Amino acid sequence: MRDEYLLDTPTVRGFIADVRAAIAGAASPAGACDAIRPRFVELLADDRWLLPEFQEPNPDSGMGGGIGQWLLFRAGDRSLTLFALVVPPGSATPIHDHLAWGLVGLYRGTQDEEIYAERGGRAEPVERRALATGDFYALLPPRDDIHRVRTTSPETSVSIHLLTNDTGCVWRHAYDERSGEPAAFRSGYVNVPCD
Ligand SMILES: [Fe+2]
Repeated sequence: MRDEYLLDTPTVRGFIADVRAAIAGAASPAGACDAIRPRFVELLADDRWLLPEFQEPNPDSGMGGGIGQWLLFRAGDRSLTLFALVVPPGSATPIHDHLAWGLVGLYRGTQDEEIYAERGGRAEPVERRALATGDFYALLPPRDDIHRVRTTSPETSVSIHLLTNDTGCVWRHAYDERSGEPAAFRSGYVNVPCD
């Protein structure tokens, strides 16, 4: 399969090329995240590259709440994706995991993030943090792989995800907010079907 650039611009192509070079030159996922960090900061600070059509909510969302998950880039071997997650004001994702390492950062708006840990097969809350535009964090599973985000700004929040799997199409887990029990979950993308 070929690489797919759903948003095919020099900014996205340049970013992905630099990410691939960083991954190739790093000894570990944590090392790769460190190497990618400066370019990710630049991407979050550049308010021109993410076209408005990739910042729209999705009424038919696999996540519920009108949340849009827009694929921007996907590697031919499905080992790397870049996507935008659009969360309307007051909406929250389900509690979910990602099953891959990568970086997540806030491009627009503000969010509350609740982080969970799996204990005895259930998700238990461990930490809560407020995120402002430009904030970002590394996901290095199993640490910090389970979370839920809620938009706290009056405008829609948009976060940029760079993850080392086909996050929208892989089967992962959503967790019941009361019992913490996992269930099979596939979020999908707004703009690309899963095979
Ligand atoms: Fe997430």
